[in-house]
Amino acid sequence: MCGIVAYLGEREAQPILLEGLFRLEYRGYDSSGMAIINGKGLQSLKKKGRIQFLEEALQSAPLPGKIGISHTRWATHGGPSDENAHPHRDQSGKLALVHNGVIENYHSLRTRFLAQGHTFISETDTEVLAHLVGEHYQQIPSSDLNRLENALKAALKEVNGTYGVAVIHEDHPNLFVGARRGSPLVLAIGEKEHFLTSDVSAIISHTQKVVYLNDYDVVSVQNGQFSISSLTKPHAGYEITEVDLADAKAEMGAFPHFMLKEIFEQPQSILNAFRGRLDTEEYAAKLGGLNMTPQELLEIHRIKILGCGTALHSAMVGEYLIESLAQIPVETDFASEFRYRNCPMDRRTLVFVVSQSGETADTLAALREARRKGFRALGICNRVGSTIARESDGGVYMHAGPEIGVAATKSFTSQVMIFTLLALNLGRMRFLSASQGKEIIQAIEKIPSQVEQILKLSDSIKLIADKYKNYRSMLFLGRQYQKAVAMEGALKMKEISYIHAEAYPSAELKHGVIALIDEETPTVFLCPKDSVYEKNMSNLQEVKARKGKVIAIATEGDLEIAKFADDVIYVPATLEPLMPLLTVIPLQLLSYHTAVLLGRDVDKPRNLAKSVTVE
Ligand code: AGP
Ligand code: GLU
Repeated sequence: MCGIVAYLGEREAQPILLEGLFRLEYRGYDSSGMAIINGKGLQSLKKKGRIQFLEEALQSAPLPGKIGISHTRWATHGGPSDENAHPHRDQSGKLALVHNGVIENYHSLRTRFLAQGHTFISETDTEVLAHLVGEHYQQIPSSDLNRLENALKAALKEVNGTYGVAVIHEDHPNLFVGARRGSPLVLAIGEKEHFLTSDVSAIISHTQKVVYLNDYDVVSVQNGQFSISSLTKPHAGYEITEVDLADAKAEMGAFPHFMLKEIFEQPQSILNAFRGRLDTEEYAAKLGGLNMTPQELLEIHRIKILGCGTALHSAMVGEYLIESLAQIPVETDFASEFRYRNCPMDRRTLVFVVSQSGETADTLAALREARRKGFRALGICNRVGSTIARESDGGVYMHAGPEIGVAATKSFTSQVMIFTLLALNLGRMRFLSASQGKEIIQAIEKIPSQVEQILKLSDSIKLIADKYKNYRSMLFLGRQYQKAVAMEGALKMKEISYIHAEAYPSAELKHGVIALIDEETPTVFLCPKDSVYEKNMSNLQEVKARKGKVIAIATEGDLEIAKFADDVIYVPATLEPLMPLLTVIPLQLLSYHTAVLLGRDVDKPRNLAKSVTVE
């Protein structure tokens, strides 16, 4: 995680860096800092807490200058503090560095430096890297025109781990260098100015011309020129691309939080996920980005879907969709498990990695592992040009627009919609009839207006949230397609309201979970009128028999359930495989309102960051 912004140009760096940091705050927000070179040398300021604290500190002690680096942190090594905030300096104090990632061998390097008499101010791995670059810099003769760049390269050859870094040095007031491995880094080219950033949204108001750096690329910007070289190859190829403004800019508008705005965007974002992709003649879906011929699609024997958090939950819905509509065996796995697991895989397995950001370190590593082993691996991503989107063999974009709230909402429904299209397509090539395909397409087309209808319940869901907000623990239960929705609902509740929440398939209740049920542990029951409705109702009764309170998510017109549940939130009827697109909406609103009523920081919950680019 963490966000980096560096600037070199003809304007004052401080406001540009600060604005960029605010835009990257979703990536990490436990501390932030800035270093600038001016007539007085290298000056820096670092503050624990939100970027706002850095902004306030800069008001009383501004940092003038036209070159600078800045960072918003999500701590991995050493807690949030002024000292541990980036930038970090080398032993000479003249070099400053910001870093996103983890230096795995920092401890042995630190021990070596301590033995040499170096002093460290922080507990971070990053400060060790700064010392390492500084040490190499000292060893390179001053006649070397690329001294700082070569020092960085030499240092990076000694480290294990991941990094996106930007470095400046007091003796080079017209130069910044940077490099990446495993963490995103983008060079942006403006009019007589350059930027380096973790995410284009930080600099989009200044330029749309960017180069997405690849792993092992080293970039150097000096006197208005940039060069890109590679740590591993004699030449690094690069491409200058134009960023789509709509893809990068996100404003909150009239909504009090990004999360609420993004929940309310779902009628549109779901539409964007299927717009132009429905084949209403063949009753199938058009997914050209898969880069696969019909023959290749027919030869798929198994599918493996990998992701983390919410993306994995959408994959779990995808598993049921593809198995039921296309009869292809599907397995889902945590990307973080898959990457270190040596699981045997049928050669005709197609791999999907799902990631809103397209930068999640575990998911990226899983993608690389699958490709290394010779499997075709496709991406389902939202961020255009993200590392996963670029490195996969093909895939499908969500077109959901920027998702800034740390809690994923619209990306979940977009991913589920894409899996629906995929399942429809694979199904129509196999056992699904044209009439079944037509029925699914008709149901898909209705989803945006049905979501719209559920969103109108926001105020009544707020009343339910108020009733349950003070419970310390909650259960989320559902069967079949709704099992994954229950897991997603519990994750939302945990991450933004900090209420403990657990999700299980409803039938698992009697295998142990039921011991938790009492008046103090309410259950959210996903109980739409589907093929397992009756079974669910029995489980609901089991909860009621033990004095558990129940909030049911049910299908409109189901008056029976209201007799047993304490509260019911109704969603419109749709086909069973599409129901997750509707039932998840009340759960998003329930967690949102609960968190707001509890006074939580909804868009930036504690300990989290939007994009997890460290392992
Ligand atoms: C969801 O609310 C979480 N904040 C988190 O689980 C997220 O879905 C996960 O980190 C994956 O992110 P990605 O989709 O960008 O890869
Ligand atoms: N490992 C570094 C630290 O703990 C960087 C973490 C980050 O990517 O924000 O400071």
